Amino acid sequence: MYEKIIKELKRWLEPQDDFILNSANLSAVLFHNIINLNWVGIYMRSGNKLYLGPFQGKPARQIINIGDGVCGVSAEKKETMLVEDVHQFPGHIACDLASNSEIVVPIIKDNILYGVLDIDSPHKFRFIEEEKQEYESYVEILIQNSDMDRVKKYYNI
Ligand code: SME
Repeated sequence: MYEKIIKELKRWLEPQDDFILNSANLSAVLFHNIINLNWVGIYMRSGNKLYLGPFQGKPARQIINIGDGVCGVSAEKKETMLVEDVHQFPGHIACDLASNSEIVVPIIKDNILYGVLDIDSPHKFRFIEEEKQEYESYVEILIQNSDMDRVKKYYNI
């Protein structure tokens, strides 16, 4: 499955293209190739807030303060957060009530935080430590194929 996703990402993410266009296709590729997910999307950082970007799934919270929820904590720590049961995570922000577990990968280049990739599952314990690197590599492909300087200007990062 991992190999298939990498192949799809290489097919659908245009090199040096717009980050938002690439994020939209990244969300779609992950959502339609990984089983047992109910939400995949990007939050973009501007200042100390995260703003909803391209996603697949039900409508979601549009603005999250850095430090709030799983996304905000991942952004604050600049670390991937793997949450086996979101109901045990203090301050978890429930968008789709079906979500039970979550992984959030920060989007970082040259130590600058651009946003996060958020992935939700209706199953508890859906994400495991061993998969963490795979999700981080999807974000790496997104960064490598996008014009991050343009993102910096647009979002005033
Ligand atoms: N659950 C996230 C909020 C975003 S929605 O899941 C799409 C959080 O706690 O940060």
